Amino acid sequence: MDNTSSIQNDNITVHSFKKNDQMNFPKGNEGELSSSHQNEMHSFKELSSAFEKRFSDSHFPKEPKNLYDAAQYLLTLGGKRIRPVMCLMGNEMFDKINENAYHVATAIELFHNFTLIHDDIMDKAPLRRGMPTTHKKFGESTALLAGDVMLVVGYENLNKVHVDYLPQVLTLFNRTAREVCEGQQLDMDFEKMADVHFDDYVKMVTLKTSVALAASLQLGSILGGAGQGNQEHLYEFGKNLGIAFQVQDDYLDAFGNPEKFGKKQGGDIMANKKTFLLLQAMKVASSAQRKELDDLLKINDEQKIEAVLNIFRSCNVDEWAKELKQKYFSIAMDHLEEIAVLSARKKPLEELATYLMERDV
Ligand code: IPE
Ligand code: IPE
Ligand code: MG
Ligand code: MG
Ligand code: MG
Repeated sequence: MDNTSSIQNDNITVHSFKKNDQMNFPKGNEGELSSSHQNEMHSFKELSSAFEKRFSDSHFPKEPKNLYDAAQYLLTLGGKRIRPVMCLMGNEMFDKINENAYHVATAIELFHNFTLIHDDIMDKAPLRRGMPTTHKKFGESTALLAGDVMLVVGYENLNKVHVDYLPQVLTLFNRTAREVCEGQQLDMDFEKMADVHFDDYVKMVTLKTSVALAASLQLGSILGGAGQGNQEHLYEFGKNLGIAFQVQDDYLDAFGNPEKFGKKQGGDIMANKKTFLLLQAMKVASSAQRKELDDLLKINDEQKIEAVLNIFRSCNVDEWAKELKQKYFSIAMDHLEEIAVLSARKKPLEELATYLMERDV
């Protein structure tokens, strides 16, 4: 049987790799980008294929095996590769994709996988990309180190960027990495807080998730020679799309098909995450439901997942989540509109945004 599942959305097919098998990308020229025409733009599928071709080479030496096997493990489980493709798209919006963009895209994907390993420890998550999380398979201490070394290898890739661009790239990359840490801390702080305001939720998800998407685009655009105004609109596009992306992530954690999504269903509920779904349920629940939710938050039992999901369903939080997603999607699209390039150059990002809104992985 094929080891990929794919989502067809207009012109975009995104492969999600579920098993610890070899990547099953097409052979031949498919991984190379054709560049016969100056203004040619590439789709998500083409760019992710080109990226994967390079990224699937090993990033680590062989020894110590226990460390580097753990580091390589998550990378071979695939993932959507959204951030590196966004870097390439940000680059291609302004110029032909250059080598610097691949170095930065590689650093971004390594950074992302590092955050996932540490995030799964913090969230006590058993599953990721349909397989046991790194710490479940290799133990927490090795997983922490595997994440650390992945971050370092990410920086080694950044160090390959041409010196003319390096200071600007490092400044944005570092600011973003720091913000992700801040967002991750807020996410954990909120687990212990009874009342989290909606604005604080948006601030937290902006930091932990959206800025990485936004920066991926902007980094690519810097390397493509974009002007400041265009860079800023591209960043805001990515930031608002990223908020919608995290709303969808929260939705899928509760209501997605865990087989497809590859994570434990209700993991956020178990961890008392203050997702938009929970905040909205708290807001619209009857006083009896509110009391039940308060009580459920105090227990640490798998049974609470179904009980909380029932309250979510009766409060129609899925509908609210859709509306919220749409709101941020629209703001994102307004910024995309403002970017001063031919509309044909925006098409790949429009398609990517639409796919991200409807994704189920
Ligand atoms: C998961 O990111 C972490 C979040 C910010 C929600 P992705 O959904 O991009 O994960 P992969 O890389 O495709 O597995
Ligand atoms: C994670 O958010 C954001 C980062 C990894 C920085 P989540 O905790 O919601 O991500 P998943 O759902 O575990 O992928
Ligand atoms: Mg998590
Ligand atoms: Mg988390
Ligand atoms: Mg999540």
